[in-house]
Amino acid sequence: MPITILAIESSCDDTSAAVLQDGKLLSNVVAGQKVHEAYGGVVPELASRAHQQHIVPVVDQALMQAGIHKKDLNAVAFTAGPGLIGSLFVGASFAKAFALALDVPLIAVNHMRAHVLAHFIDEPVPAFPFLCLTVSGGHTQIVKVTDYLSMEVIGETSDDAAGEAFDKTAKLLGLPYPGGPILDQIAQTGNPNAFKFPDSKTHEPYGFSFSGIKTSVMYFLQKQTKADPNFIANHLPDICASIQKTIVNTLLKKFKLAAQELGVTHLAIAGGVSANSELRREFAELGKRMNWQTYIPKFEYCTDNAGMIAMTAWYQYLSGDFAPQTVVPRARFPISEG
Ligand code: KG4
Ligand code: ZN
Repeated sequence: MPITILAIESSCDDTSAAVLQDGKLLSNVVAGQKVHEAYGGVVPELASRAHQQHIVPVVDQALMQAGIHKKDLNAVAFTAGPGLIGSLFVGASFAKAFALALDVPLIAVNHMRAHVLAHFIDEPVPAFPFLCLTVSGGHTQIVKVTDYLSMEVIGETSDDAAGEAFDKTAKLLGLPYPGGPILDQIAQTGNPNAFKFPDSKTHEPYGFSFSGIKTSVMYFLQKQTKADPNFIANHLPDICASIQKTIVNTLLKKFKLAAQELGVTHLAIAGGVSANSELRREFAELGKRMNWQTYIPKFEYCTDNAGMIAMTAWYQYLSGDFAPQTVVPRARFPISEG
């Protein structure tokens, strides 16, 4: 009998459900939330309410697309953190009720582990040990991965995440939320060397600091628009390309140092920012120069999705890592605690 798992992701502003059978993904449905656009960022209470509206139809669709009846499920998995606590509770409550009604085990998944294990959804898969640069809207981490469920953060941001650096600088340019993908698109026609922004400084060997770039872009724009009120409109692609280059260079500099010092030659990128075209290109180039094996996820597995939660749940299922009905989601959830 095959093992079939339903997984639910609701840590931020995407409601997602996926079905996985014997380690193969059968469906992966993601419903975004338009409601936040008007506010220039995710409004936690509105996110929780939208999850409540989306969760039943999204799960129905995931089961339908997979051709699976709910009575055939062997486990229900959900994102237990880190994330917005109200949003996490919607997914957790749904998963608990569903598991209880079906009388199947519950699996609590760490969202940051799942971003890393998204690399195991499709071939080619990384070989252990590998390093993963996980870059999202909430996190920027260099993770040493020694096994499916054995991970250690060896460096992270001390303030803003890389995704926040994209979103906040995009906001200063008047771009809608989330700014990262739009900035990426506009940067395509820009000159990345047009403007110079300072590289962020941090004392941690593999650490990052991204709050400085937002401030330097803000002062730069204030100065330039004083001299030319149309400066942003006249130079938008060049500004976007220059900001993007600064963020990508910072990320890859530390990632390269970690790989060299730890002597690891299998390297992966993950998380929403790994959808960035410049990061993907520069990472692949660097990998060629350094003789690394590089792993770049498909676009649909970069940003939040339940497919990666299902993949992680599969390894937890195999190791008998189930959660009791009393499990509670956590806004903060270290990767080492699983
Ligand atoms: O992993 P994710 O979907 O959610 C979190 O767990 O945070 O990442 C979302 C982040 C946002 O900050 C978004 O702007 C950024 O990923 N992002 C991008 C791109 N696509 C998504 N940033 C830069 N370039 C992109 N193409
Ligand atoms: Zn995420």
